[in-house]
Amino acid sequence: MTEWHRVAGCIDVAEDTPLGLTVEGVPVALFTTNGKYFALHDLCTHGAARLSEGFVEGGCVECPLHQGLFDLETGAPRAAPVVEAVKTYQVRIVDGHIEICLQTDE
Ligand code: FES
Repeated sequence: MTEWHRVAGCIDVAEDTPLGLTVEGVPVALFTTNGKYFALHDLCTHGAARLSEGFVEGGCVECPLHQGLFDLETGAPRAAPVVEAVKTYQVRIVDGHIEICLQTDE
């Protein structure tokens, strides 16, 4: 069964300004851009950097440490030095709140 966690209100996440959270002990970075919401694992796959401290542009988040880029929708690497995708989590909006699912298909 899919378990959803209510993690924030939609108004708590500003456009293109990441929000870092811990959900069930898992670091999660929330994003909203162009009216869509995304949740990524809040740790760069290249090093010890929080993506919630990164910069959002063009549908990607730029890691604050070495400026690697990840696609917000898929987690795929979009610019060096990152080569490994970051995990993404499902997001849904219920009654003005953001809910995420920590389960993945992996
Ligand atoms: S730690 Fe993120 S690009 Fe190096």
